[in-house]
Amino acid sequence: MSGKTYQIALIPGDGTGPEVVREGVKVLQAAGEKFGFKMEFASFDFGGDRFLRTGEVLPDAAVLEFKKFDAIFLGAIGHPDVKPGILEKGILLRLRFELDQYINLRPVKLYPGVETPLKDKGPEDIDYVVVRENSGDCYTGIGGVSMKGTADEVAVQNMVYTRSQVERCLRYAFECTRKRARKKTLALCGKTNVLTYVYDLWERAFHEIGARDYPDIRREYYHVDATCMWMVKNPEWFDVIVTGNMFGDIITDLGAITQGGMGIAAGGNINPAGVSMFEPIGGSAPKYTGKNVINPLAAVCSGMMMLEHLGEEKAARSIERSVIFVTGKKLKSLAAGKMGYSTSEVGDLVAKNLT
Ligand code: IPM
Ligand code: MN
Repeated sequence: MSGKTYQIALIPGDGTGPEVVREGVKVLQAAGEKFGFKMEFASFDFGGDRFLRTGEVLPDAAVLEFKKFDAIFLGAIGHPDVKPGILEKGILLRLRFELDQYINLRPVKLYPGVETPLKDKGPEDIDYVVVRENSGDCYTGIGGVSMKGTADEVAVQNMVYTRSQVERCLRYAFECTRKRARKKTLALCGKTNVLTYVYDLWERAFHEIGARDYPDIRREYYHVDATCMWMVKNPEWFDVIVTGNMFGDIITDLGAITQGGMGIAAGGNINPAGVSMFEPIGGSAPKYTGKNVINPLAAVCSGMMMLEHLGEEKAARSIERSVIFVTGKKLKSLAAGKMGYSTSEVGDLVAKNLT
């Protein structure tokens, strides 16, 4: 019983975002009642509809206001009537950058009863965490274009990393590996055979920090292409994978499908010393919007990660047990419209079965 009250900013966002956030909030509130803490929610309507109505993506004042919260809980960003990039860059990426959420933590964990496309693999084989660097790489927007529209058009988008950015991410990943009771193995995923500046920096920092400060953690290195192969063929090899922003984006979609897909995959944008933001990995799923058929478990699991981050470990484990019960004993499938239950019923099931 922490007795604490947490101030949480909600950004339900676009498409099915509001529907899944509602269920996440339901479960968080139930967990709070059971474990003796309170959550107070303030909702913000940033997203495609507001942009289309007002032309405003995310005002500067809002970014400042978010800094006052204990955490942010986000549904989905992306609208079919808005050109790709505007909302993603203007809301999601802007918050990640301005709140310096330099870690994107994405667990890949197959729960019992959930179908995986990986042949002959079960929950004991698929249980690792991807620590995706979340502040640098091709995401910084550094680059440019010239002679646009001509046959000589040149487009550059740079992969950018500083030593300190790489170091803080690696340290977080080593600490994360130390806390897990699995294999005490940290794998660096890179591309040292081609990206001989950027991933050479990562690799040197990885071994230097590891040898000096984390001798108890085993270090492995995989090229990103091989990582994809082993994530499919031998996922049981992995405990924690650390990688840059771009590779991390790509391999976590692959990871998500091996754990049952976008209906369950959750993530946290973490600033260990600031305000972190939790979100399902999946998008806004416009075709399912408003139908009460989307799977809210990814949002529920993001809420669970938020509690873990806030120090409400017991409540987080309780949510996880309930999710395992629901996926294992209740749902027919994790796919939207095929669960055997509606979105709100799945939220009810998790909330009622907290133990
Ligand atoms: C993700 C998404 C985002 C990213 C997009 C929407 C900008 O794909 O969170 O993985 O590339 O990081
Ligand atoms: Mn992605």
